[in-house]
Amino acid sequence: MGKRTLVTSALPYANGPIHLGHLAGAYLPADFYVRYKRMRNEDVVFICGSDEHGVPITIAADKEGVTPQDIVDRFHEMNKKTFEEFGISFDYFGRTSASVHHETSQDFFRVLNEKGVFKKKSETQLYDEKAKMFLPDRYVKGTCPHCNYSEAFGDQCEKCGTSLSPSDLIEPRSMVTGDKPIYKETEHWFLPLGDFQDDLQAWLDSTENWKPNVMGQVKSWLKQGLGDRAVTRDLTWGVPVPVEGFDGKVLYVWFDAPIGYISATKEWAQQQGDPDLWEKYWRNKDSDLIHFIGKDNIVFHCIMFPAVLMSYDGYILPKNVPANEFLNLEGQKLSTSRGWAVWVQEYLKDFDPDLMRYVLGTGLPETKDADFSWKYFQDHVNGELADIFGNFAYRTLSFTSRYFDNKVPTAGDLNEEDRNALGEIDRLKKEIENLYETFRFREAIQKSMNLARAGNKYFTEMEPWRLRKDDPERCATVLNVCCQITAALSVLFDPVIPDACLKLREALNIRKAGWADITGQILKAGSPVDKGEILFKKVEDEAIEAQRKKLEEQSRAQEASKPVLEPIKNTITFDDFSKLDIRIGEILTAERVPKSDKLLKITVDIGLEKRTIMAGIAQHADPKKLPGKKVAVVANLKPRKMMGVPSEGMILMAETPDGDFMFVTSEADNGSVVA
Ligand code: MF3
Ligand code: ZN
Repeated sequence: MGKRTLVTSALPYANGPIHLGHLAGAYLPADFYVRYKRMRNEDVVFICGSDEHGVPITIAADKEGVTPQDIVDRFHEMNKKTFEEFGISFDYFGRTSASVHHETSQDFFRVLNEKGVFKKKSETQLYDEKAKMFLPDRYVKGTCPHCNYSEAFGDQCEKCGTSLSPSDLIEPRSMVTGDKPIYKETEHWFLPLGDFQDDLQAWLDSTENWKPNVMGQVKSWLKQGLGDRAVTRDLTWGVPVPVEGFDGKVLYVWFDAPIGYISATKEWAQQQGDPDLWEKYWRNKDSDLIHFIGKDNIVFHCIMFPAVLMSYDGYILPKNVPANEFLNLEGQKLSTSRGWAVWVQEYLKDFDPDLMRYVLGTGLPETKDADFSWKYFQDHVNGELADIFGNFAYRTLSFTSRYFDNKVPTAGDLNEEDRNALGEIDRLKKEIENLYETFRFREAIQKSMNLARAGNKYFTEMEPWRLRKDDPERCATVLNVCCQITAALSVLFDPVIPDACLKLREALNIRKAGWADITGQILKAGSPVDKGEILFKKVEDEAIEAQRKKLEEQSRAQEASKPVLEPIKNTITFDDFSKLDIRIGEILTAERVPKSDKLLKITVDIGLEKRTIMAGIAQHADPKKLPGKKVAVVANLKPRKMMGVPSEGMILMAETPDGDFMFVTSEADNGSVVA
């Protein structure tokens, strides 16, 4: 047995189903890692569960007019099943509504409170007077002060990823009533993260092999200096604050959810019949803790939760937090609210898990955002799984069963080509191990496919179908080598495509083989081999078309059912309106404004004259593509200076419900009056 490792994947909110973006972020890479460790016979426990508190749950409940409990019950069961069917091999999938979790997170709060770790402060908080409730951060929307995105939430801007507090928002609005919230006093507990600055720094300095995208983010937060973070909320849904006289307050979801990893490990230990076993993984220096998450969770796992663990005492800290970036879909940002997502349950109706596991694995957003498209899926299934891996295994097995009586042939003397081909096994195995250990699964998978590539090439070049008549002994040697490579592949690829690998190992009668068996001699000469089977069917064009259509339709249906448009403004008179002078113009030049990430400096020909206009659309438009575009311009707006340049008018833009901007355009001649 090697080292002990506890692996966690971010607890998904139980407010919706699982999609490919989830898989590519926190679940699939974790599963690769865990299966790799299991193949190596290491002591590894894989923990996850449903995150059932927090405002996303109550928002989903409000939307449907059901209780939060209804929502979490539904999605907990659904997601648990999805993960199982997709082969995400958790040892335990818990839930934060479990009593063990309530007790565990309340214990954390109590202990930290008694130790005087928290600060208690009275704070003014956003309050919706009409709804008579304090507004959780997620119930407040407004414009992000960093990137100007108009749909930013009070806790985070999903466009630029910055974590926010509601008071940072420009023009905040309540999502309950749409009203502008007021501020009202309320008392809360805070975790003063500033007190942990040095300890966090020291811990981070002691870590190794962190991904630069993760360490970079964490370092920059530390550099900015850490503030106080509230750990309680005025809500009814959540873990009650375990202090007398504070009814109506619950633990902040980001305080309780990561503790869910611990509570789920406790439940797992109970299930193992050894209730104390969890401590070996959480409170023992010989254990490693690894959190797999998406990039929007970094601050909570690398700053807040470690601070909580440090304060309690006796807990180990994560050894690594290999966070992934985001997965886009067919060139667009994945969005569940816009229906732009591939749901795993839907996928599984049409294809086997292995295909998507492999394809997503080759394109994981490990260091930067990545794009998934159905074309990419088809190309990688057909060109690699089917044509290389599947083809090689099939050729090898069918040739062996057919001409060698279902037995691994005996090898004679190996020539240089044989030795090179077998040598690839050891060489690649070492490289792949190193890649798994350093969380570079994309490369690990590409390298794994290289072994199949080498095998396939060897088979083709050795031409065993010719040797069979000319030189039967040589033919036997070649097939022995091919069988050994196939056997190596059946273990090497197991973390990625476990179903196919198990089938293959069964066909080779080495069901139990593990990582240590990946050598050039897994199979003994004469051992039985079943006849080949097609492991991966090719994905036809029609199947891909059907998936694309499904996506389009799903997103159209979603858009149609969406009442998220801005309400109509107050009535104005015709006189008010006729004061506006709107003209059609044509953009002549557009350039970025130095030191501003929002502004473009645009010159427009409005027929009578040329205007210089500063427009806050740098996030939404590529200046190179603007010249020649016809636009509508408010021509009698009083000029005003922006970044020192006078802006002589305004270009009309349509803002979509998702916060994208498009020009209001017309083919009319420049200078035409819009009325
Ligand atoms: N539910 C959160 C999300 O989906 C993740 C919680 S991770 C945990 O973003 F650490 F809090 F469990
Ligand atoms: Zn932003």
